[in-house]
Amino acid sequence: MKAFLKKVLAFGLGSMFLLSPLQAAEVEVLHWWTSGGEAAALNVLKEDLQSKGIGWKDMPVAGGGGTQAMTVLRSRVTSGTAPTAVQMLGFDILDWAAEGVLADLNRIARQGNWDAVVPLALQKFSKYDGQWISVPVNVHSTNWVWANKAVFEKVGVTVPRNWDEFVAVTKKIKAAGYTPIAHGGQAWQDATVFDSILLSVGGYDFYKKTMVDLNLKALGSAKMVQVFDRMRVITGLLDPNFSGRDWNLASAMVINEKAAMQIMGDWAKGEFIKAGKVPGKDFMCFRFPETQGIVTFNSDQFAMFRVGSADTKSQMEMAKSVISPVFQSAFNVVKGSAPARTDVPNSDFDACGKKGMTDLASANMNGTLIGSMAHGHANPAGIKNAMYDVITNHFNTKQSSRAAVKALVAAVETAM
Ligand code: BGC
Repeated sequence: MKAFLKKVLAFGLGSMFLLSPLQAAEVEVLHWWTSGGEAAALNVLKEDLQSKGIGWKDMPVAGGGGTQAMTVLRSRVTSGTAPTAVQMLGFDILDWAAEGVLADLNRIARQGNWDAVVPLALQKFSKYDGQWISVPVNVHSTNWVWANKAVFEKVGVTVPRNWDEFVAVTKKIKAAGYTPIAHGGQAWQDATVFDSILLSVGGYDFYKKTMVDLNLKALGSAKMVQVFDRMRVITGLLDPNFSGRDWNLASAMVINEKAAMQIMGDWAKGEFIKAGKVPGKDFMCFRFPETQGIVTFNSDQFAMFRVGSADTKSQMEMAKSVISPVFQSAFNVVKGSAPARTDVPNSDFDACGKKGMTDLASANMNGTLIGSMAHGHANPAGIKNAMYDVITNHFNTKQSSRAAVKALVAAVETAM
């Protein structure tokens, strides 16, 4: 019945069906924040909206990186029952905007002066044709390592500054009986590791040339062979049960001293915090060796679907709540990310959060901030998924680096 009403409203008959008490303001939110840390952050949003009289209809779709969520979204939109608000990343936002189905947020963006406070790197994905079509929640970054401090101390190793040190450290950890790297064998997690490895081999320029510019020569180069060589080293550092494991269970291995490190975006910090762990005391956060000074970022945003005038008010209220400085601090302190606006104080953030914010600001200033391929901010979904296939196939077989590079070039060429 509600879906029917929404359809009717979408066809412009809204005024005939003005809000009845039964239709209290509510948002239906499609998201993939289902781990402990993510759910805790989501609660901050739910409670904020509740305090403003806006109800919450939860539409969780488990699966890190959002691949499954995007599949569910497509089918909801196709069947004419789009959710009111959807967590989305980078190029996916622009793809939906191009289909003309996203609500216009310009009025509140103007009122809130979003143009002045949201960094341009994010605006690139929040605006389409100069119009605001999504509201940024945060800025995550992917080139992080999360390490158990006690394990490092027991083994007698320190934070590695470059690849050779990293390899040496992992050898010692392995010899001491720990799993060096906690990992979940899912395509998006393999791709998240690839983000860091690619950056460590080629730096900002090579990352941009291959992931953003899709330069086939660079994609097929000797440097890319080296990237897959390093990916092969990583596959030798995992426990035998990594296949299919969810990312938060891999975080738990580090938290519980089963493994020494996880190469993962800063949403992993949410799991450590949820488990009562303290940065600097129980765990350490550092940039993947040889990627210091560069930040591969992704920004969760909420895009609002045009579902009819009855929902517009709650959609706009939600967007206003999300962008408010108080919410940006409260939410991101729990989520592990940095605020999506430049004027939020870092006073409530822990040491890793402060480092994340500083790294982000300086990378933004130095021109070394770049969208994460693994999380939809370097290239559109078609290309990203083609890359995922190649990376994950290499990761899970004995394929040579050269063969993987050939496959990568062919896959990108076909997807372009
Ligand atoms: C999102 C994060 C989320 C992570 C794992 C990323 O794509 O940006 O918000 O925590 O996936 O689910």
